[in-house]
Amino acid sequence: MAAQNQAVATLRWRDGRLEMIDQRVLPAQFEYRAYRSADETAEGIRSMVVRGAPAIGCAAAYGVALEALRLRNTSVAEFSAGMEKAFEVLAASRPTAVNLFWALKRMRARWDGRAVGAIANTLLAEAHEVLAEDIRINRAMGAFGAALLSDGARVLTHCNAGALATAGHGTALGVIRSAVEAGKRISVIADETRPFLQGARLTAWEMVQENIPVTLITDNMAGHMMSLGDFDAVVVGTDRVAANGDVANKIGTDMVAVLARRHNIPFYVACPLSTIDLSIPDGSAIPIEERAVEEVTGFRDCQWAAQGVSVRNPAFDVTPAELVTGLITENGVVHQPNRDKLEALFSKR
Ligand code: MRU
Repeated sequence: MAAQNQAVATLRWRDGRLEMIDQRVLPAQFEYRAYRSADETAEGIRSMVVRGAPAIGCAAAYGVALEALRLRNTSVAEFSAGMEKAFEVLAASRPTAVNLFWALKRMRARWDGRAVGAIANTLLAEAHEVLAEDIRINRAMGAFGAALLSDGARVLTHCNAGALATAGHGTALGVIRSAVEAGKRISVIADETRPFLQGARLTAWEMVQENIPVTLITDNMAGHMMSLGDFDAVVVGTDRVAANGDVANKIGTDMVAVLARRHNIPFYVACPLSTIDLSIPDGSAIPIEERAVEEVTGFRDCQWAAQGVSVRNPAFDVTPAELVTGLITENGVVHQPNRDKLEALFSKR
């Protein structure tokens, strides 16, 4: 079924199952896939049916709840062993987005080793809360970020940090949506985002659905267009921010940040507090996922690279804090982020 002005619920709970939009087939097809266990949910995260840091966190929370529901009539020993396995398989699904580990820690604290019975419903309620809270946070970030964009701003974004990457509204695209809701005329430049094409397929789709003006470019056009004065700001999302303010995001983000600094364009990162990892001193300690070479040598059934060529496919890169004009969080904007400012941000909670 082709999507037509479809309200985006990236994840939803239906008939005792988790349903997630299959983001691998958008925009040609709009369809939900159903998940009944932690194993299935982990596979949905790994294969990128669901992607984007906050959405991965929500999916993981539901994965834990699904497993508790599935095992609720088993023995205490079986339940505990099954739950431990669920946490393990979900934690191994993707390494970079810290929201995954944040959500698992939150679910584990709820479970607390307790056995069977009512705990399954408690875990499901917690997963619902993770989802609802994500939308509230994105709206708060959106309001802070919208104030940074002037009327008429042309905003470059990389990858997809939209409703599809979250429970709804989005982080970077949430900032844009909130600015539009506030009456500002914003136009978006979406770069294609090789190799998985989240910009061309997902960001462009979201913006077209809502009639927010959007122009698609390939990744290698950004520098030229910045030199022409075509962008007023860059706003991106992130998968993990280290304690010193270094930002991991989709591969290619660092390149955009370097260009933005060269051309005096502000570079903002929309970032819920759940994406800040104070346990990691700087970006060099952030695990960078390497994905299948087939994502680089072709797309779906079409293979274009020379057979036998050696290939690298790091899925994320790290933008140093010094290139970040501001981190937009639900607690406010942190200009020129550093360790002291990030620690202070958490004490405001
Ligand atoms: O590999 P993906 O598609 O999961 O990467 C997503 C991104 O890099 C997003 O920019 C990031 O998760 C921020 S999502 C609000």
